[in-house]
Amino acid sequence: MSVVAVAHPNIAFIKYWGKVMDDPNKINWALNPSFSMTLDRAQTQTRIRLSDHFEFCLNGNPASEADTKKLLNYLAMLEKELKVEPLERALSIDSKNNFPTAAGIASSASAFAALCLAYLGLRWGEENATAWCKQNLAEFSRLCRLGSGSACRSVAGGYMYWEGSHAVTWQCKLKLFDTVLILSSEKKKVSSRDGHLTASQSPLLAERLQNLPARSRSMMESLKLAENAHGTPQADIAFSEFGRLLEEEALEMHSLTQKAPQPVEYWSDETRKILTALREKSDRNYFFTIDAGPNLHLISMQPVASEVRSLCKEVGVSAEIWEDSTGGPPRFIPDVEI
Ligand code: DP6
Repeated sequence: MSVVAVAHPNIAFIKYWGKVMDDPNKINWALNPSFSMTLDRAQTQTRIRLSDHFEFCLNGNPASEADTKKLLNYLAMLEKELKVEPLERALSIDSKNNFPTAAGIASSASAFAALCLAYLGLRWGEENATAWCKQNLAEFSRLCRLGSGSACRSVAGGYMYWEGSHAVTWQCKLKLFDTVLILSSEKKKVSSRDGHLTASQSPLLAERLQNLPARSRSMMESLKLAENAHGTPQADIAFSEFGRLLEEEALEMHSLTQKAPQPVEYWSDETRKILTALREKSDRNYFFTIDAGPNLHLISMQPVASEVRSLCKEVGVSAEIWEDSTGGPPRFIPDVEI
């Protein structure tokens, strides 16, 4: 018996940055609501099989001790939450991303969404699990959150808004593009726990929490305007306003961490070079956001990869480009070799 589930990562427009640190009942509980778009091309495929011995492979290699511990903790949590008996046989788990590890695409979101769905499929059968997730989206989202906060926004496709225990769908038909600039010099990885800790301790947090509801609201209003006026100059104006807020939000997330008592620097020299070039380009129809890493995500209403390639050449930055767009919900696929 084996099942294979696929889930897509998401890119946050309003960031989950800072979580409750000292309450065991509030696992991956964000200090602020966040808002994101699910990606399409990027995906994690996870196969779970009953086996004679436990096995966990990540991207084709045996998982590290730390990752294995995280997985086992999560599976134990799922058993408890679902009130199911532990399985009598061991699990063989194989999980692969189709996007480069250095892409700065939060792989823990798609990893835990795929793992959670695959586990439900194994316990209840694929059809039952699919129906349950559809009817109990909030609960499915909450279960994914227990693995990684951002995973709760990878459960429905399209756009999702996360506040409190789970995320909900935000309806919008706009197809957006995410052109990820994978910059050559990768910064050392800082665990998400440490990243969230810098935010929780930052002197800028209080002001951020005060300003966020208005920014969030304006961002969503701008996207709605762009959706309703699609194909007209008004849509471009509305999207530019969305872009302005998107960039303001990304810069705020990073200044929170740069000004924390134990600051962390996620940007590389290349990140700064591109940021400077983008600032000088006033006629852009693409706008940046940056997660916990050096790479930039450029969000647009049209494909912009060739334009972005030229910009990188102009400023002398070598970058790999990952082109993506708005994507769908997690699902089961036939058990083929992954
Ligand atoms: C910068 O979801 O990776 O991507 O809950 O500790 O697993 P954990 O953190 P994680 O944090 C994501 C942070 C972010 C912003 C975001 O996706 O909202």
